[in-house]
Amino acid sequence: MKVLVIGGGAREHALCRSLSLDSDVNALYCAPGNAGIAEVAELRPVDPLDGEAVARLATELRADLVVVGPEAPLVAGVADAVRAVGIPVFGPSGEAAQLEGSKAFAKDVMAAAGVPTARSYVCTTPEEVDEALDAFGAPYVVKDDGLAAGKGVVVTDDRAAARAHALGCDRVVIEEFLDGPEVSLFAITDGVTVLPLQPAQDFKRALDGDAGPNTGGMGAYSPLPWADPKLVDEVMASVLQPTVDELRHRGTPFSGLLYAGLAITSRGTRVIEFNARFGDPETQVVLARLRTPLAGVLLGSANGTLDALPPLSWREDAAVTVVIASHNYPETPRTGDPITGLADVAEQDAPHAYVLHAGTRTEGDEVVSAGGRVLSVTATGSDLAEARDRAYKAVARIGLDGSQYRTDIAAKAAESR
Ligand code: AMP
Ligand code: GLY
Repeated sequence: MKVLVIGGGAREHALCRSLSLDSDVNALYCAPGNAGIAEVAELRPVDPLDGEAVARLATELRADLVVVGPEAPLVAGVADAVRAVGIPVFGPSGEAAQLEGSKAFAKDVMAAAGVPTARSYVCTTPEEVDEALDAFGAPYVVKDDGLAAGKGVVVTDDRAAARAHALGCDRVVIEEFLDGPEVSLFAITDGVTVLPLQPAQDFKRALDGDAGPNTGGMGAYSPLPWADPKLVDEVMASVLQPTVDELRHRGTPFSGLLYAGLAITSRGTRVIEFNARFGDPETQVVLARLRTPLAGVLLGSANGTLDALPPLSWREDAAVTVVIASHNYPETPRTGDPITGLADVAEQDAPHAYVLHAGTRTEGDEVVSAGGRVLSVTATGSDLAEARDRAYKAVARIGLDGSQYRTDIAAKAAESR
């Protein structure tokens, strides 16, 4: 099978790594990719938001499957453009991707499907904003309705700050604060059949102890030793299957990856948000644990044949990933700094620990930083403590001037066993 992956972050590196290890895949391309992905896939330049260009590239490469990684191309309808030229694609239509593209749409789908989520108001005027803020009280949760690359949500006790964020958006969702640990649960679906993956936890704040600003995600681990073993079954029945059924009944079937961001509250599990693609950095740890070859599962989603697949198989291993971010991330990350130590990790830590590239590019013989999140150092072990240990040993070998990473990824969970 010839596979083309669209995107160029650590998530796409993780996808390409798994696909490169799959004996069903005999040619692997990534567009545009990054310096690390170039080691496992052939890179092609493309504007990932240009559906016609992606479809043309897929046709030219005679791809049997196109996998669209990030949300922006999905919301822009890139999967539709590829489907229109008759090539199977992993990823929802632009319409179905509104589940991530519009928080108000997601709330509407959840209400219709009876999916538990925070109570909310959609507001467009200052009067509506004030009313909603007062109805819920602090802590205030204010979400820009549209795609905002992780920067659209403000959670604060400061009413003035909450109000200012709300008034800076055209349309906002203001909602009840959900208390409790967060879990990311991914499911692969073809619009009818839903296959849940293993749950993971992300660390959204920039600094240790969950301090600092929200980011795209600073690290992740799986499994979750503290979670109820029935969690996946429960979320399948109360969230994933009803959402997929609702979108199908609306005539906008959702195929690809359905990401449920959940809060485990004292009153039960609630959806914080849906995403329409693999999460980053959770994908790095979930795929590290998946034993089933990936290409057949993604193709089953693209072709509507997931019901014919055997159940997914998982490794006993635990996995941890630690993100190394640029100086000044998430505000105005500095780029262009050389990265050292990558060969040392490959020599000394493989196969248990490895580096997945996010924002990197090659400059002559050097690999340099090219984005906010630069690397996602991933490791597996017999338990979280071992995986964590291996991940941080590898992190310590990497040099990147001014860079930052959290030192507490999976620390509490590793102790809880
Ligand atoms: P989102 O973009 O919707 O995932 O929001 C980003 C982060 O904001 C989430 O991971 C949560 O940590 C936090 N958040 C969002 N909605 C809520 C809520 N209703 N209650 C508490 N925290 C929230
Ligand atoms: N890890 C959060 C996200 O992918 O949106």
